[in-house]
This record gives sequence, C-alpha cells and structure tokens, in this order.
Amino acid sequence: MTIRVTGTGSALPEKIVTNFELQKLVETSDEWIRERTGIAERRISTGETVSSLSAEACIKALEMAGRQPEEVDLILVATCSPELLLPCCACQVQDRIGAVKAVAFDVNAACSGFLFALNTAYAYLQTGIYQNALIVGSEVLSKLVDWTDRGTCVLFGDGAGAAFVEASVDDIVCENGRRAGMECMVQGSDGAKGMVLSCEERPVKNAFISEDIMQNPYIQMDGQEVYKFATRQVPACIHDALAKANLTVEDVDLFILHQANVRIIESVAKRLKADISKFPMNLDKIGNMSSATVPVLLDELNRSGKIKKGDRLVLSGFGAGLTYGASILVWGV
Ligand code: COA
Repeated sequence: MTIRVTGTGSALPEKIVTNFELQKLVETSDEWIRERTGIAERRISTGETVSSLSAEACIKALEMAGRQPEEVDLILVATCSPELLLPCCACQVQDRIGAVKAVAFDVNAACSGFLFALNTAYAYLQTGIYQNALIVGSEVLSKLVDWTDRGTCVLFGDGAGAAFVEASVDDIVCENGRRAGMECMVQGSDGAKGMVLSCEERPVKNAFISEDIMQNPYIQMDGQEVYKFATRQVPACIHDALAKANLTVEDVDLFILHQANVRIIESVAKRLKADISKFPMNLDKIGNMSSATVPVLLDELNRSGKIKKGDRLVLSGFGAGLTYGASILVWGV
C-alpha cells in the first residue's frame, strides 16, 4: 500500500507587493533583496485569511482529483498563522468546503508543515485508518511580520497550496518501470535551536498576574543561523531519505524545495552535486510563504505539465522549530 497525489490546488492573495514598494517602507533596495534572496515580489493579504485561501486551494485540488468534498476522510492544515486559535483552521476549511464527514485538525511545523502533514496523512492512510486526505499549507505571514524590520519583512508572503492524496492499493507501474506513490520520508526536529526563528503568542496573563508583560508579537530571526541550518540540514536529510530508499541523487527528476531563498537552494544543489535545472523555483514572484511554498510550487509544476507520470520527486522543507524533512514520491497521475 502506498499513497498517490491525485489533485493539487493553490490560492494567492490578489495584492502584489514589489521590492520597490518595500523601499518606501524600510531602508532597502530592489537590488539588495534580489541579490540576497532572489525575491522580486510577493503576495500580501488585504483581507484573505488562512482559512479562505486554504478552502480555495482545497476546492481546486478536489476538482482536479474528480472528488466531492463529502468524500474527504481527513483534512490537515499546516499553518503557523491561523486567524483563530480556536477552532483550528482545518475545521474552518471543513465547514467552508462542506467536507461533512472529514476529521480535521491543524499541524504546526512552520515551513516544514506541509511535509509533516503529508507524512502524517501517509501514516493514517498506510494503516488503513483513512482512505484519503486533503493536505494544506496555508499562511498569512504578513500579520506576523514587523513591517519596520528590513531583515525579515522583505522575505515573506501570503498564500496557500493543497494536495489531495489517496490510498493506493493497486500497484501502478509507470512506463519507466517505477512504481507510483510515496517511497520514503525522513523528518526531524531540533527544538534546542528554536529561538533562532520565533514569534511569540500571548504572554501568560491572567487574573492572578498584576504586572504588565512586554512582548514582541512579530517574527524574530537570526538570518545567518537559519541560513547555516538550512544549507547543512536540507542536503543531509535528502541524502538520508535517498539512502533509506536505496536511491541516488541521479535517480531524482525534480527537487521541490521550500522556497525561502535562491542562495539556499543553489547551495543545496551544489552540496548534493545535482544539476540546478532539477530545482524549480518560483520564489521570485511569491517569496517565502512558509508551509505554503512546497504545495504551491507542486501545483504550479503539475498544472503546467512540468511533472510527468513516472517522475521521481523529492519534496523537502526546513523552518522554525527548527524542523526539516524530505519525502520521495513517484508521480502517478
Ligand atoms: N536591505 C538592505 N540591507 C539589509 C536588509 C535589507 N532588507 N536586511 C539586512 N540588511 C543589512 C543588515 O542590516 C546588515 O547591515 P550591516 O552590515 O550594516 O549590519 C547587512 O545587510 C548584512 O546583513 P546580514 O544579516 O549579514 O545579511 P545576509 O547576507 O545574512 O542576508 C538574509 C540576510 C536574511 C537574506 C540571509 O541571512 C538569509 O537568507 N537567511 C535565511 C533566512 C530564511 O530563509 N528564513 C526563513 C526560513 S524558513
């Protein structure tokens, strides 16, 4: 038994914010942002929410899979920026799309969230508990960003991506001899380094505490530490996953990586000794949307016909936690 992705979808806010517009907010330049990150513009919410973007992406994924919302067994939304603490976003999505019989809950592993949710669904489907799942990565990070901090506000964007996955009992052998489906996954966490990329929730404040507690409610980041972590950990976990599946870098057609920074992706390609042409990127247009980057890129490649049946994909992400992961799958639709 394995799982196959049978539909993908994505949704982006309408508003485009270019680097030139950010020049008006903070002391920065289009040249600096492009050189250091590869980002030219990003989408920023002017009202779209994590649940509205998620629902739009889910509907598109279900349409592609030819499934109705009532057929969905499980909804997992990966997010670190929901509009409500309660109820969880996955329950909002269930209601918005009418997936009446689905079990729904959120997963927070920041930028690795979509991968962790995919792997969670894999475990549920493999054990036969559920037959299918909608996996979503959705963020409105613009509300967590300090728009006076040039070190972070230039990096992030808002958006959502979704994948519909189904348990696959039948062996689907592709023309190139590969068996369609998930082949392997590796994931890890390093909580000890968590504070290099953090964002505070409400501080402990109740009827029994009198003093005012100061807090910084925005994303705080040690960019260089995150950079070092990503360029070391991502290639290492991809190597681990490939070794686990008895594969080599040459056996992979596309590396669909978390779109945080073009320099990180280039460094990963170099460390893996893989051709950079196997690393599709879209971050120039949408920036780092945390958990949404991998599914949005997957949907873009899928809809533009750049993923073919039998292609072997490595999906890999890293982010706050710190968390990281890689999943290997052979495209089967
Ligand atoms: N525009 C202009 N200058 C900026 C700037 C901006 N937007 N942001 C920072 N700077 C300045 C700094 O203040 C610093 O100035 P100083 O030398 O006068 O102190 C200088 O640029 C260099 O800063 P530094 O932080 O060393 O730059 P960097 O080369 O490390 O690049 C990042 C910064 C954030 C692009 C880089 O560290 C990075 O990509 N890290 C990973 C972040 C990431 O991916 N986070 C999300 C993970 S999911």
